[in-house]
Amino acid sequence: MYDLIVIGSGPGGYIAAIRAAQLGMKVACIERYATYGGTCLNVGCIPSKAMLNSSERYAEIQHGLDAHGISVGSVSLDVPKMVSRKQEVVDSLVGGVAYLFKKNKIDAFNNCWGRIASTSKVELLDDDGNVTQSLDTKRILIATGSKPISLPGITIDKKNIVDSTGALEFEEVPKHLVIIGAGVIGLELGSVWSRLGAKVTVIEYLPEILGGRADKDVTREALKSLKKQGLEFILQAKVTGAEDKDGVVEVTYEQGDATETISCDKLLVAIGRKPFTQNLGLENVGLTPNKRGQLEVDKNFKTSVDGIYAIGDVIPGPMLAHKAEEEAVVCVERMNDIGAHINYDAIPDIVYTEPEIASVGKTAQELKDAGIEFKSGKFPYSANGRAKAMDATGGFVKILADAKTDRILGAHIIGKSAGDLIAELAVSMEFGASSEDIARSSHAHPTLAEIVKEAALAVDKRTLNM
Ligand code: FAD
Ligand code: NAI
Repeated sequence: MYDLIVIGSGPGGYIAAIRAAQLGMKVACIERYATYGGTCLNVGCIPSKAMLNSSERYAEIQHGLDAHGISVGSVSLDVPKMVSRKQEVVDSLVGGVAYLFKKNKIDAFNNCWGRIASTSKVELLDDDGNVTQSLDTKRILIATGSKPISLPGITIDKKNIVDSTGALEFEEVPKHLVIIGAGVIGLELGSVWSRLGAKVTVIEYLPEILGGRADKDVTREALKSLKKQGLEFILQAKVTGAEDKDGVVEVTYEQGDATETISCDKLLVAIGRKPFTQNLGLENVGLTPNKRGQLEVDKNFKTSVDGIYAIGDVIPGPMLAHKAEEEAVVCVERMNDIGAHINYDAIPDIVYTEPEIASVGKTAQELKDAGIEFKSGKFPYSANGRAKAMDATGGFVKILADAKTDRILGAHIIGKSAGDLIAELAVSMEFGASSEDIARSSHAHPTLAEIVKEAALAVDKRTLNM
């Protein structure tokens, strides 16, 4: 009899299994694929960042060294080698999860589906649906993650019409890559292939990029910068279909009253992801996902059925690996009567384009809509010594603080290493810090972190270096 069976081994599932084992629970974790680590490690966060890093180096050698007095001869590109390095990074990390399972004495089952048979029984199924084993448990944690949303009229053939997984595996640089969706995947993978030499056209339904959720100043700056790097955008256009005609993919979209067609050799469909609950046996315990396919949970991450819990992409909230991890830890600790909690306002969100885009907490628009009075402080990278030395002067840090209490309510950064800089602001928000707390803390010189300090000083209109 297990204390806990976790279904799914992504950042939600594997972290939950480890924390539960640390707390003395007898744990099993079930994964339908051969390798552990879920979307994040296998086909998401990690491989995309490996390709972003490789392509950034290639772009820098080609266009970014001249001003430093460095000239390079001819540069060549070996895409299969780049893709196989990406796979080595993935392999080493997914192997690391298998090691952690062993180290923590977690019974890990791979290559099999976990199906809930009752609130105290999980069956293991092979791909043909045969039950190979049955496990008894006191509790079940669903961490089955998400899958890409498909667009009616478009078939992902995994050859010329792909989802994000396929776009991490191209064997050569596409001549023309069309991307449906200017969300996070569209911008990150669009950047990769554009840097490697593809013409990239992004078609987006909304009038702005990043799903309209980001800070407006940041969105404007990001669009300007991405266009300068060569990405083309067709905004306010709804893709209605695509067909592969002997290697030429014809994509049809509606813009205003017009119906247009664009041809390309590769098409990436990146219009969002949806929770994944296929073959999970929810019907056996009377559990029904909501209209968006998500499993609703209470503050203990318990579903409407006693003994069954859910975390990560399969429940409401942002689809982020670190959000799944936080939920994993809190869910398991609460099972063990530890009073843990998550502050969803302090979960950072990062887009790993160049420049990076990072945010935490509320945007100015959200504060306005909520009728909350706030002060805003902004400081540009261009006035920071380290940024100048690094030739990284594009972008800014913006901090929003409560008009009366000065408590930080949100922070938005676009610029070099934004994803690392945002950590200070997330921790500050977790501690309920004011902008003055940051402004009065020593930040080493010369660092990009001084831009954060100056933005905090700007909230009180007293920047020192501008
Ligand atoms: P998943 O990681 O999806 O794991 C669920 C696991 O459950 C899968 O391995 C699946 O095979 C398994 N499973 C499902 N059903 C069953 C079953 N019945 N039986 C057994 N196993 C089952 N997030 C970030 O925070 N930062 C990033 O940089 C980032 N980059 C991304 C890039 C891409 C291209 C993509 C697609 C996503 C990215 N994400 C990123 C999102 C991130 O990957 C997800 O938010 C995260 O993986 C969710 O974790 P999870 O544990 O909920 O689910
Ligand atoms: P997304 O939700 O970020 O963006 C999808 C975009 O497609 C939206 O802007 C939407 O308006 C547009 N769209 C939808 N239908 C369309 C149509 N018919 N025609 C044109 N445009 C259309 O989704 P995305 O990029 O697929 O990413 C999925 C999730 O994966 C994200 O929500 C994110 O949580 C996660 N992710 C996170 C990353 C990170 O943290 N760095 C990186 C990659 C993914």
